[in-house]
Amino acid sequence: MEIGWNLGKIVRVIDISAIRNDFPLLSRSFDGVPLIYLDNAATTQKPHAVLNASRHYYETINSNIHRGTHRLAREATDAYEAAREIVASYIGAPDSRSVIFTSGATDSLNLAAQTLSSLLSEGDEVLISALEHHSNIVPWQWACERTGAVLRIIPCDESGMLPSSLSPHLTEKTKIIALTWISNAFGTVNPVSRYTAEAKHHGVTVVIDASQAAPHLSINVAEMGCDMIAFSGHKMYAPTGIGILWGKYELLAALPPYRGGGEMIKEVTFEETTFNEPPFRFEAGTPNIEGAIALGAACDYLCSIGLDRIKAHETSLIRAAEAELAKIAGIRLFGPADRCGALSFAIEGVHAYDLGTFLDQMGVAVRTGHHCCQPLMHRFGITGTTRASFAMYNTHDEVVRFGECMRRAVNLLR
Ligand SMILES: Cc1ncc(COP(=O)(O)O)c(C=O)c1O
Repeated sequence: MEIGWNLGKIVRVIDISAIRNDFPLLSRSFDGVPLIYLDNAATTQKPHAVLNASRHYYETINSNIHRGTHRLAREATDAYEAAREIVASYIGAPDSRSVIFTSGATDSLNLAAQTLSSLLSEGDEVLISALEHHSNIVPWQWACERTGAVLRIIPCDESGMLPSSLSPHLTEKTKIIALTWISNAFGTVNPVSRYTAEAKHHGVTVVIDASQAAPHLSINVAEMGCDMIAFSGHKMYAPTGIGILWGKYELLAALPPYRGGGEMIKEVTFEETTFNEPPFRFEAGTPNIEGAIALGAACDYLCSIGLDRIKAHETSLIRAAEAELAKIAGIRLFGPADRCGALSFAIEGVHAYDLGTFLDQMGVAVRTGHHCCQPLMHRFGITGTTRASFAMYNTHDEVVRFGECMRRAVNLLR
């Protein structure tokens, strides 16, 4: 049992050895050195519950969905639609028809930007922030190019935080705001509920990139009041190739399709095509059936541990990692003190890539580079950082070993 620090009280947060036993990959070692996996913001490892769900699907009910009259097709359809219900419940969505399965957050954000561009006209404004991942920049650049709308950027301060209020950035021309909940590069947690309330007050459509929030924070779209939310399965213990775009049903029902083909139609003739209702309107072609079912299993797994306990454990790991890094001269941490998930840093006189390579030789997996946030790196005048990112299965022992490896690597590299 790991002991964690939560809101000033010592609490028992998590049964870490039971959790680690759920993740087979964590027992890997390289040349006799046990792996310390601290690249969870890029992708998480998968528990048996998820691996078993994938395997069970292919071993027992593999079939194409929605079209067949045979029993396997019905079973696969039922399992796929049950997964939609699980995800809806995981994110507090009252109506599972608002949950669209995509191939990941990037696909979800492209879907959002392309379909919402039907609401944009020349001179309208789309707001994003300095913290965005390229996946929440490029699709909006394209939407603006297509429609003549203007992309505006909410700046961040030196600690990697956005302003406390968005109001100064909202004009009568602002139509859409697309913001990350948690920065994948710096771990900044944006007050998305407050921002949403401000934007809705001005009648602005709000899209939230919850890619980094989904594994750490509980999501309740009904309480948040946003219009759309996007995230990937693979960052929350599900397989790659599956993601979610949730949207308010009445908004989705008013939007045009994204891609053509398969189940997204109501009727096709050579003269004309009419389109299915959401979510099927936005799920053209055979979807990732196994991925959706495994994502449902990942949501169940997260709930069985408890998001509050996960967050408390991960926060205590980050505080411990900050203390380890503070022992290194010339270190600069990026992001605010109450960061979540990711801990990004640079060390004077040490290149991030060299550091990542040395850490790898010591069994420590971290990520180096721009983290798909090049504009944010430019804002800070850097080409990249080293990022350690934490998940529910990381331990305090790993953090201490990470600190030792860091100091060894820096001594060798300086
Ligand atoms: C904040 C954020 N948004 C979007 C993405 C894109 O996710 P994916 O590559 O799974 O589509 C990522 C992935 O790192 C991310 O961290």
